[in-house]
This record gives sequence, C-alpha cells and structure tokens, in this order.
Amino acid sequence: MFDDLEFEVLAKKLSVKWSRDPDDVLAAWVADMDFPIAPPIKAAMQNVLDIDDLGYPGYDLRDAVRQAFVDRMAARYDWHIELDDTWLLTTVVQGLHFALTIGSQPGDGVVVQMPIYTPFLNAIDQLGRRRVEAPLGRDGDRYVVDADVLEAAIDETTTVLMLCNPHNPTGRVFTVDELTAIAEVAERHDLLVIADEIHQDLLHDDHVHHVFARVAPAVAARTITLTAASKAFNLAGNRCALVHFGSPELRAKLEAMTHRMVGEVSIMGHVATMAAWTDPESQIWFDEMLAYVDGNRRFFAASLAEQVPQSRHAMPEATYLAWVDLTECGLGDNPAEVLFDRARLALGVGPEYGSQGRGFVRMNLATSRHIVAEAVDRIAATVNA
Ligand SMILES: Cc1ncc(COP(=O)(O)O)c(C=O)c1O
Repeated sequence: MFDDLEFEVLAKKLSVKWSRDPDDVLAAWVADMDFPIAPPIKAAMQNVLDIDDLGYPGYDLRDAVRQAFVDRMAARYDWHIELDDTWLLTTVVQGLHFALTIGSQPGDGVVVQMPIYTPFLNAIDQLGRRRVEAPLGRDGDRYVVDADVLEAAIDETTTVLMLCNPHNPTGRVFTVDELTAIAEVAERHDLLVIADEIHQDLLHDDHVHHVFARVAPAVAARTITLTAASKAFNLAGNRCALVHFGSPELRAKLEAMTHRMVGEVSIMGHVATMAAWTDPESQIWFDEMLAYVDGNRRFFAASLAEQVPQSRHAMPEATYLAWVDLTECGLGDNPAEVLFDRARLALGVGPEYGSQGRGFVRMNLATSRHIVAEAVDRIAATVNA
C-alpha cells in the first residue's frame, strides 16, 4: 500500500501537491502524504455518498467529533479537558488567524521560534501584528529551545507567543524542560500562547509528545491549543480541525465573533475525523504508515549523506518532513528554486520559513521509497554537476 506508488497515478490527483507543476516535476513539497488513506475513513466517506447525505452536518455529529477529541487527548496524551472548552474549525491555520484576532491587537508583537511554518508568519503579517523573531538554538544540526534568546526578543508590546510543537520545519519534539522554559517566559511576560500541535501523533523513535497546556498549568488558562486528524491521517483537503480554549473568557471571545464569516466543517470532514480517531483499524493503518515513514527517514538520511556529503540534517523526531541544510552545496540562498529548475524537484522553500531558512530545503518523506530515492538522485546530480 505504501511502497508501490506510481507516478502515473499520482499525476492524476487534483490536490495541489502533484497538480501544481508540469508532469516531469517530482513533488515533495507541501505536507500531504501520497499514500492511500485508511480504509475506515474511505468507508465512512463512501457511506455518506451511498445515502446521498451531503446536507448540513447534524448537531450530534459535531458533538461526537468534539467528544472524540476530548477522549483522544485523555487516552494518548493524558490531557483531560472538558467538551465545553472545545470548538470545531475548518483548519488549524484558520485557528491561528482566529486566535491571533481574539488574543491581540493590531500592532502587537507576536513571538515565534524561528525557522517556522510559513502560515505563522503570514497570519502575523496579514492581521497587522508585528513579527518578533526568536531563533531556535542549535546543538549541532539539532534545533533546541533557547529560552534566553526567546525572552530577550520580547518587548513590552509583545502579547502573544505562537508555539509549534512538534515543530515544523525542524521536526523537533520539545521536551518537558523546553516546554516548561517556554511557559515560564510566557508567564513572566503575560503572553497568550497559541499552541499548534497538529503533528502530535507523528512521533519517531521514543519521542513523546507533551501537550503544552498540560505541562504548563500556570499558563494553561491563557493557552489556545489547535490540532486536527488531518496530518496524521492525510485529510488536509477535508477541512476539519479542533480548538481547545484554556478559559471560558477565551471561548466567549470566539463566540462573540461571527463564526459564520469563516464557514463550517463539512459532513465529510466530520465523518473522516471520527473514523480516523475512533476506528481501531485506522490506528493499525497509522502504525503501519508511520513505520514505513520511519524507514524512509532513515533511508533518506543515509542516502543523502552518501550521495551529497556536503549536506547536513538531523533526522526529524516527529513529522514526515526533513529540514535539510544545503548551504555548503553551492546552490545559493534558495536551493529549492535551483533544484526545481535544474532537477525538476519541488521541495519546501527554505527562506519562506524565515531568514534562518536561507540555504535550506524541506523535503516531504511521506511517499514510496523509490520516489525518495529518485529525489536524492536528483539532488545529487544537481549538486555534483
Ligand atoms: C504546523 C502546521 N500547522 C498547520 C498546518 C495546516 O493545517 P490545516 O490544513 O488544518 O490548516 C500544517 C500543515 O502542514 C502544519 O505543518
């Protein structure tokens, strides 16, 4: 199911990863998987079609998805939350915009740990807030939280901290100590914390995901947590995300806004999320998928080191995304652009993740191994030309 994907089939997809570029371009950029989706999710969506059920989603269904979220957070992450503190949104990125809108004023500083998933920066810019960039520290090729740098970046008009954990693009899973250090900074400076935890299930080796609001009780009341089934179960186009408010006041601020302006989750989004989070067969699919991606992660690291020894990267601790340093490869500040032109390979564009991404690319490993091998061959052929 995972190993034998064919270019001809992928090329027929309407979703953006494979449809954006001409057919000779190998797509490893946006964070969609190429794999077939879990059978229970397919069956649930097929059932909707079989009974011609594309009407407005029922209230019970909405509550069931929120309850599935509550149950899953308790079972997997020992995070115990109330149904009333949760809400459904169409996407996590919408949640980033919502949370910034209700939690800050135009002109406020919003601190982010760089490099960072581009929509964080877009949300700050588009809503007229101010980017406060705190680079992550480095421990060799691994990125680490540097609480001193984080604190030093914050000024008196900084009101929000946007946290990405597990972290995109670096693939870090922050430890309890790192999260505690972040929480202490947030508490000292009275910051609202927006925690995007969408990659929380996609953990490699023995890394453990700690929900920020759980490990940081002192700031939990001013934390908005966002997640979805969409990264782990490859449902991004289905539009269903969950939000948890740390306090009734935060929730009331959202309710006061007219959520009709942003649309509601479709019936397909509801049933797919339910099937992903509650059907044991979906979990079996997930475990097999993650084991396969783990193999890709190791294969990619080994073959890149062999074929492009000037490159550097720390294997992701979570996610199916590799953040690769090509600064010594002679491809300039934007190697993704050069690789697109010369190798017909579409990768994540490093500088879009902030200035720390100059010379970097982000490579999507959620595909068949032969496609990963082809991507490495194309990078090597370009670098070694
Ligand atoms: C950290 C992070 N947040 C959010 C998203 C997108 O989530 P959504 O499609 O629900 O907006 C992604 C997608 O890759 C992501 O990496």
